[in-house]
Amino acid sequence: MRKKLIAGNWKMNLTSSESEQLAKDIVSNLDKKVIAKTDVLICPTYISLEVVGRIISGTGIKLGAQNLFFENDGAFTGEISARMIKEIGCEYVIVGHSERRKHLHETNKIINKKIKKALEFGLKPILCVGETFEEREDEIYEGIVEEQVIDSLADITKAEMNNIIIAYEPVWAIGTGLNATSKQISDMHLLIGRAFNKLVNENAANELLVLYGGSVNDKNSKEILSASGVDGALIGGASLKAEEFAKIAKTAAQI
Ligand code: PGA
Repeated sequence: MRKKLIAGNWKMNLTSSESEQLAKDIVSNLDKKVIAKTDVLICPTYISLEVVGRIISGTGIKLGAQNLFFENDGAFTGEISARMIKEIGCEYVIVGHSERRKHLHETNKIINKKIKKALEFGLKPILCVGETFEEREDEIYEGIVEEQVIDSLADITKAEMNNIIIAYEPVWAIGTGLNATSKQISDMHLLIGRAFNKLVNENAANELLVLYGGSVNDKNSKEILSASGVDGALIGGASLKAEEFAKIAKTAAQI
């Protein structure tokens, strides 16, 4: 069976020294056997990438960034490029997280440019999609998520599509303690797979990793990770607690 991916999104939390400590704690809590059976990824803030990269080096734990800019370099004050992220040791980059869509007005079009740039530099983009509470209430959520997938992944070659990961994160479940049910999750993962197939024009979704995100913790991870179509989890709050994050990875390794 395919390995699951357990990804920790540390968001805008922890200084460099705090990140160093958390990375050390995660390394000491994670059994080597777990890392052999499950891919484990940590996405700290930009300024902690280097120190966290050093701590996890040689452990098998992977490093990712939370964002990137869509130009190579130049006069883009405050932005960070794919080349910089790649050189510092990142294998993955989160793109289009709902918090960035909301607070920084990232559109599917901007996200598409970022994904293309990430792919150009050999990074694996984790594209985040998901509906708001209102969109679910209004029953327009399926169309919204389908559009996010199709527009964010427009004009990407079939070969490059192999490096895409999608995280379904209903906005109403992020940081709220609310979870989608297994059925809601599986239904959306199926819909995402169908949208992906439409883009690639063949049955490529079999190979696509689709993660779930939104208040995943050590209590609910078994049920969520066992749901049909779930290939892993993108974890915010619980990834800041070494023991809990390690427990979730262990659960994933046992499924
Ligand atoms: P959460 O965040 O686990 O704190 O809900 C998930 C995410 O935003 O990726």
